[in-house]
Amino acid sequence: MNRSIEIGPADGKLGVLLPGLGAVATTFIAGVESVRRGLAKPIGSVSQMQTIRLGKRTEGRVPLIRDFVPLAKLDQLVFGAWDPIPDDANESARGARVLDERDIDPVADFLGTIRPMPAVFDRQYVKRLDGENVKKGKTKRELGEQLREDIRWFKEENGCERLVMIWCGSTEVFIERGPAHQTLEAFEKAMDANADSIAPSMIYAWAALKEGVPYANGAPNLSVDFPALQDLAKETGVPVAGKDFKTGQTLIKTIIAPGLKARMIGLRGWFSTNILGNRDGEVLDDPESFKTKEESKLGVLQHLLQPELYPELYGDIYHKVRINYYPPRGDNKEGWDNLDIFGWLGYPMQIKIDFLCRDSILAAPIVLDLALFMDLAARAGMGGIQEWLSFYFKSPMTLPALYPEHDLFIQHMKLKNTLRHLMGEEQITHLGLDYGEG
Ligand SMILES: NC(=O)c1ccc[n+]([C@@H]2O[C@H](COP(=O)([O-])OP(=O)(O)OC[C@H]3O[C@@H](n4cnc5c(N)ncnc54)[C@H](O)[C@@H]3O)[C@@H](O)[C@H]2O)c1
Repeated sequence: MNRSIEIGPADGKLGVLLPGLGAVATTFIAGVESVRRGLAKPIGSVSQMQTIRLGKRTEGRVPLIRDFVPLAKLDQLVFGAWDPIPDDANESARGARVLDERDIDPVADFLGTIRPMPAVFDRQYVKRLDGENVKKGKTKRELGEQLREDIRWFKEENGCERLVMIWCGSTEVFIERGPAHQTLEAFEKAMDANADSIAPSMIYAWAALKEGVPYANGAPNLSVDFPALQDLAKETGVPVAGKDFKTGQTLIKTIIAPGLKARMIGLRGWFSTNILGNRDGEVLDDPESFKTKEESKLGVLQHLLQPELYPELYGDIYHKVRINYYPPRGDNKEGWDNLDIFGWLGYPMQIKIDFLCRDSILAAPIVLDLALFMDLAARAGMGGIQEWLSFYFKSPMTLPALYPEHDLFIQHMKLKNTLRHLMGEEQITHLGLDYGEG
């Protein structure tokens, strides 16, 4: 093994800071604690359960990823959060109704110790929410400085060696990139001027980067997806990743669409509709928050199917995505997809998918993997956008000149090849011709 990249050790405690202590965050924390207590398995977590093939198939080297790369162990994780709603993680987990009481009760003592710090929150950006656990400050910069103090306090108080921040807060209203997002100077001036273009999620991202803390964005909010903060991340060598955890319907979309394309099967239309009744669904019932989500969901097929290269197959697709707030369903969303496809001689066919899904159950292992891989990236000196973690996002951030890679299988290979690269192992191309050469 020829390792040229220095990776700092994964020693000591890793603090996982979560803006937003709702369904996803509490499901993640409760799950990690259950695994630590030997009550559950980390199902869905690539970092914990997946193996990685090294070298040729004949070598038989297939360690678990967590044994191959130096990742923090689950026992090293400590959790912190901010939320405008003051409920501790135990109360919030019960309110979210993702996990059954029988799964919360055994870890309730631990969850009860995680109380959210006062949030940087403004109803202007999340209209369907209100809460009193909110910071006060004259300017957005001042609020950002308060977050920086929280970060330093948390690190000290918990004796953490390193920190990562993962946005698990609500989806904010749609904001387009503007002049304030172009340079750090313009961004900080806009913070001083309390400009509308600076949303709370951006203030968290700014605070994290200023403190040298890797930042991953689980929502479709802009947050860190613009030059001002991405340049800061690159310059300071701090990893950033986003946007929007890839769960539910989009996960299925990025599994099915590459398969259809691989077989050169045409697509006329893809209609996706969902019913869900959790707080996320309530927030997304506001058209402005939905627009942010819609943008994130709609981009997927365009990039996956490349209509510019395959106009006869994908040049005229009708793609529609709907989210309907329906309280009786809680977190147990139901998503229906109808695909109008066509094959040989243009003959039409249809595919119907009815996914009875649990969004936060799919999201929680993503939070875990991101926390561990973002920390690894920081220790390996990989600053800026972490494209190799596109696997986890609906709307992967890329460098300006590149298009995002949405194909789950390409993303998966990219993730694993990056791990091989980091550890000085050869990339796997799946060529395999030499096996037949005698
Ligand atoms: N559930 C999923 O599978 C999934 C998938 C992809 C993306 N997401 C995104 O992840 C985020 C969390 O989803 P969820 O289901 O946990 O939602 P949730 O509504 O249960 O939790 C979000 C929490 O964020 C808090 N919050 C809002 N603004 C905040 C701020 N400025 N600072 C700190 N906290 C703030 C809310 O009070 C709430 O407790 C949402 O943006 C959602 O769109 C979720």
